[in-house]
Amino acid sequence: MSERGTVSIPDLIARKGTEKIAVLTAYDAPSARILDAAGIDVLLVGDSAEMAVYGGSSTLTADMDSLVRHARAVSGAAKRALVVGDMPFLSYQASPADAVRNAGRFLAEGGCGAVKLEGGRRVLSAVDAILSADIPVMGHVGMTPQSFRKFGGFKVQGKSAGAADEILADAEALDRAGCFAIVLECVPEALAERITQTVSIPTIGIGAGPHCDGQVLVYHDLLGLSGDFRPKFVRRYAELAPVIEDAARRYLEDVKSGSFPSREETFSPDAPALRRVY
Ligand code: KIV
Repeated sequence: MSERGTVSIPDLIARKGTEKIAVLTAYDAPSARILDAAGIDVLLVGDSAEMAVYGGSSTLTADMDSLVRHARAVSGAAKRALVVGDMPFLSYQASPADAVRNAGRFLAEGGCGAVKLEGGRRVLSAVDAILSADIPVMGHVGMTPQSFRKFGGFKVQGKSAGAADEILADAEALDRAGCFAIVLECVPEALAERITQTVSIPTIGIGAGPHCDGQVLVYHDLLGLSGDFRPKFVRRYAELAPVIEDAARRYLEDVKSGSFPSREETFSPDAPALRRVY
């Protein structure tokens, strides 16, 4: 831990092989405050917001302005966790200059401590440029959701020996370039284990088995707020949808019956509550 008790990049790198890293996505201040208080190490402001929050069918429609705004909400609330901004589709592919400008926005406007982008050797010029601006980078290989059109869907990657070698080579290139961690998404467990043993930086798995140096899940999946979307790799730690529905139903009943608001919840001229709203 750094002096202020916050999770730093060197802390995370030093955990490789000693202490597992817990990462969750976060998109707003109230949830970031709770996850941070729970001790989650890294809050990823994922472009998955486009699906989890906005109900889209892919992450391709995510944009910088919206993710920077989510990042600002998350970093304003997180006291300890490292906040990582996820670079959306087309924010880093067109030119290294674009990549630096957009990555810089996550730090300068969004209050993040690092950025994440998808791809291996094919995005090295962007990775190098961002790192040259002293912006820490988390890589992401395997089933990279921004490439789902190329993959023909959201499918496990690296199943053949040749495909596995390509993903390993991508991870090694990101490690050599100076990334501080790499997300391995939806790859066979043996490949994730091999990459984890080969690279010098922590691997963070999602659908990549137990051998990674850390794990990441999407907030809404963790809490049972993703409806019928139940990928094999998700463990739901709570079922909040029925809890929220029940609260909404009870509120509805109380409004219809007139039992909400009560006298105690109402301002009357001589009530002490009139002097203090909050
Ligand atoms: O956007 C996201 O949430 C991600 C994680 C699933 C790794 O990229």
